[in-house]
Amino acid sequence: MNTIRKLFGQWSSTERIDGKTVLITGANTGIGKETARDLAKRGARIIMACRDMGKAEAAQKEIIEDSKNQNVVIRKLDLSDTKSIKEFAEVINKEEKQVNILINNAGIMMCPFSKTVDGFEMQFGVNHLGHFLLTHLLFDLIKRSAPARIINLSSMAHSWGTIKLDDINSEKGYDDRKAYGQSKLANILFSRSLAKRLQGTGVTVYAVHPGIVQTELGRHLNTPLKVAFTIVKPFTKTAVQGAQTSIYCAVTPELANESGLYYSDCAQASCTRAARDDEMAQKLWELSCQMLGITWE
Ligand SMILES: NC(=O)c1ccc[n+]([C@@H]2O[C@H](COP(=O)([O-])OP(=O)(O)OC[C@H]3O[C@@H](n4cnc5c(N)ncnc54)[C@H](OP(=O)(O)O)[C@@H]3O)[C@@H](O)[C@H]2O)c1
Repeated sequence: MNTIRKLFGQWSSTERIDGKTVLITGANTGIGKETARDLAKRGARIIMACRDMGKAEAAQKEIIEDSKNQNVVIRKLDLSDTKSIKEFAEVINKEEKQVNILINNAGIMMCPFSKTVDGFEMQFGVNHLGHFLLTHLLFDLIKRSAPARIINLSSMAHSWGTIKLDDINSEKGYDDRKAYGQSKLANILFSRSLAKRLQGTGVTVYAVHPGIVQTELGRHLNTPLKVAFTIVKPFTKTAVQGAQTSIYCAVTPELANESGLYYSDCAQASCTRAARDDEMAQKLWELSCQMLGITWE
């Protein structure tokens, strides 16, 4: 019974996080919105980082009304544009005295081939590089805010792809599923590398698979896949259930001494061997820095 409860995300905790600041990307819908709602109810200041300010405003209103927490703000962030990421980080570094919990949640899945403003393949660019740059730009602030946590939304789909060091932007051939897998594998490898660099700082890192969740993520799926998802829908999670592992990693006191690991159904989980490859994690780190034109040892 307990396992079934956990599988559907019915974990519960009364942990409060009053006085903490939480920054969540892609918080206007799906898992991000439900994560923001829950953490607002626990008393934190919530920064909702969204690309569409109309959608963000509607979600902010809903969360304030529901949580009775007025300390919920929206800020513009488009992860497919490094200029927008830099502008966003500048605002946060200027306005906020702390960020205790960063949740790199925004994501895009199996879209047709396209490129970000800076010429990166869209899924790798948004899901991995965008969050890599954002974390880099907020790194000092987060370290000053310790104890702090960084949560990277990955997926069991990390097993669908490999890190193609010689064709990271899928220019020689694009497979939407493999490109999504590559970006989600990158999220886990990034978490491992980040955890190593943060040892002893009081900042810990978690990679999360939220489950198969009913959200807008499937917007680019073709019709047969959409039909298949409708058939299996009774066995999938609602967005509230899908948010539970992110919330668990954000607030559970016992996790303060764990870092760089992978979680699913509110528990530590196993990931593929490729996702535990520290040599590849280091190569990915170096390539990401090179692509973004940054130095981050
Ligand atoms: N749903 C699942 O079954 C599932 C399974 C495994 C992992 N995940 C992961 O969970 C995370 C949340 O996904 P979800 O299911 O909640 O999907 P969702 O409902 O589609 O929400 C994704 C969020 O990301 C935002 N976003 C997309 N591109 C962006 C960009 N360029 N800049 C800023 N924000 C952007 C979206 O904004 P707009 O509303 O403006 O588009 C939206 O707020 C993703 O990282 C996903 O890979 C989900």
